[in-house]
Amino acid sequence: MTSERKTAEATKGYFGTFGGSYVPEQLQPRLDELEAAFESAMADELFEREFTRLLKEYVGRPSALTYCANISRDYGGGRLFLKREDLNHTGAHKINNTIGQALLAKRMGKKELIAETGAGMHGTATATVAALMGMRCIIYMGAVDVQRQAPNVARMKALGAEVVSVTHGQQTLKEAVDAALDAYIARPDAFYLLGSVVGPHPFPTMVREFQSVIGREAREQFLEREGKLPGHVVACVGGGSNAIGIFSAFLEDADVGLIGVEPAGRGLDTNEHAATLVKGKPGIIHGFRTYVLTDENGEPSPVYSISAGLDYPGVGPEHAHLMESGRVTYVSATDDEAVDAFRIMCRNEGIIPALESSHAVAEALKMLPALSKDETVLVNLSGRGDKDLDTVLPLLGVE
Ligand SMILES: Cc1ncc(COP(=O)(O)O)c(C=O)c1O
Repeated sequence: MTSERKTAEATKGYFGTFGGSYVPEQLQPRLDELEAAFESAMADELFEREFTRLLKEYVGRPSALTYCANISRDYGGGRLFLKREDLNHTGAHKINNTIGQALLAKRMGKKELIAETGAGMHGTATATVAALMGMRCIIYMGAVDVQRQAPNVARMKALGAEVVSVTHGQQTLKEAVDAALDAYIARPDAFYLLGSVVGPHPFPTMVREFQSVIGREAREQFLEREGKLPGHVVACVGGGSNAIGIFSAFLEDADVGLIGVEPAGRGLDTNEHAATLVKGKPGIIHGFRTYVLTDENGEPSPVYSISAGLDYPGVGPEHAHLMESGRVTYVSATDDEAVDAFRIMCRNEGIIPALESSHAVAEALKMLPALSKDETVLVNLSGRGDKDLDTVLPLLGVE
């Protein structure tokens, strides 16, 4: 092997020093096969055409750009806009990625999809595309999340998926990923449909590609409506797929501020949060190098957020790079701030946001008063909050 090829291979799948593939030896050939299939699909105009057709006819894209007139009037300051991923079929951005990966699975001749899920939105989106494409579907979900996101468990079952409740460790998203990776290794014919820009190469690159439609649409819609780009783009960060999806179209626009919002749970000074970039350090988790929240033994630490889709002790490797390069700023919002933002979005705009997305709304509400009238904030409203009503209504004192 020439040293040039070695260098090219060593840097493949890396964002700065983050990313890569740190997996058991028997898994690497399957990831190589996946990468080759992805690259060939990307070069195939028919694949692109079918992906775009399904996004339009099945998902309902383009999703709307909504101006929040009431909040903008009451808070200030700057003007607030939402990119409405909550209006997609199945109610979140997750469907964009599952359509892309399921088409890839079909192209590879696969008949079984496995996936992890936290909030159940990715599980529901995976069960949906499995039904659409006639594939078997197994979803791994932490037992705690099975309880707190029950409406989505019912949806997955209605769609014909098997939901496996994972009962080890904290019984949330990290354990669901552990179980799905184990199943992927044990089932050589299955396709692992990963739900965020995490995991070993090529997943972060592939999921980014399938979610980049959010940013392309938002950029075009904003330019058409306002005649200029947004001043600030804000998105919540769990694994980081909705954030990368919208940020990707603005990375080269130095005047557009990009802000990722992590879950501060019960506070950054407690151990009950999942603010990986804000409080973690570089390490390896689930087969890739990124920032990780670790305990005193260097193991991924227990994490917590009111929002099942955000409580993960790692984060997409591109986010780690974007933080270190200074292009994106990462902040956090607490449970209380997210619940308050949820209430304000419901009562003032008639939109019920997912608790995950409410973290991004909370940051926008902090920003608006300090901005001038001609400044704008675009929030990626990654999903709808029907699934969260059992959690939130008691906190709002609603019987
Ligand atoms: C509505 C919604 N938003 C955001 C997320 C977080 O995922 P990501 O950071 O990959 O966008 C989830 C995860 O389940 C979700 O359901």
